[in-house]
Amino acid sequence: MKIAIAIDGPAGAGKSTIAKIVANKFNLMYINTGFMYRAVTLKALRNNISASNIDEICTLIQNTDIYFEGDDLILDGENVSHYLTMPNISKNVSSFASISEIRKKLVKEMQKMAEKYDVIMDGRDIGTVVLKNAKYKFFLTATAEERATRRYDELLKKGLQVSYDEILEDIKKRDYLDTNRDVDPLKKAIDAIEIDTTGLGIEDVANKISQYIERR
Ligand code: CDP
Repeated sequence: MKIAIAIDGPAGAGKSTIAKIVANKFNLMYINTGFMYRAVTLKALRNNISASNIDEICTLIQNTDIYFEGDDLILDGENVSHYLTMPNISKNVSSFASISEIRKKLVKEMQKMAEKYDVIMDGRDIGTVVLKNAKYKFFLTATAEERATRRYDELLKKGLQVSYDEILEDIKKRDYLDTNRDVDPLKKAIDAIEIDTTGLGIEDVANKISQYIERR
């Protein structure tokens, strides 16, 4: 049977950084499912399609090809990784991610990858929906302020001019939308291990998770 590890939690909880470390350690394929929702958002914005236009969204999603090459996401043949973490995508992604037609298609793609490879996936609904039967499930949290600080530092390092207050506001808004949507909301799976990462370093969290996996 394939190995499947699910990591869920709100924006900026450190999921992707931790997942990459654990993927390297246990030789797993890392799948950043947030990137998939971000890619669909990018395509919709490029085509001036709003999240309320369900008919056009359906056509768009049926004609969209997404796959990973290492950490890069290829959208319809183009490596778009660089655009996906831009503030404009972050601002809009939760509205597109609440559309069931988009989720159905992307969840299916994720499950296909998990059938083929040993995976670690991070997202919002991995432990509750995508990999419901995963043996290892983790739910990472941290205060909104700490998560905003991490995201702020990350974007500054990339050379982007950003405001801390705007990032905090975006994170709180996304937390609200992701937690309160009807389809596959952000929720801790009953059998997930919750780790509050406030005040913890990346290595501390990666070690906690690795030790847990090794023990089982
Ligand atoms: O990196 P960050 O935590 O900011 O977000 P992300 O993992 O890139 O996800 C971006 C957005 O995609 C989230 O705020 C959700 O709205 C959506 N998402 C989702 O609905 N389900 C997933 N499995 C992954 C992401």
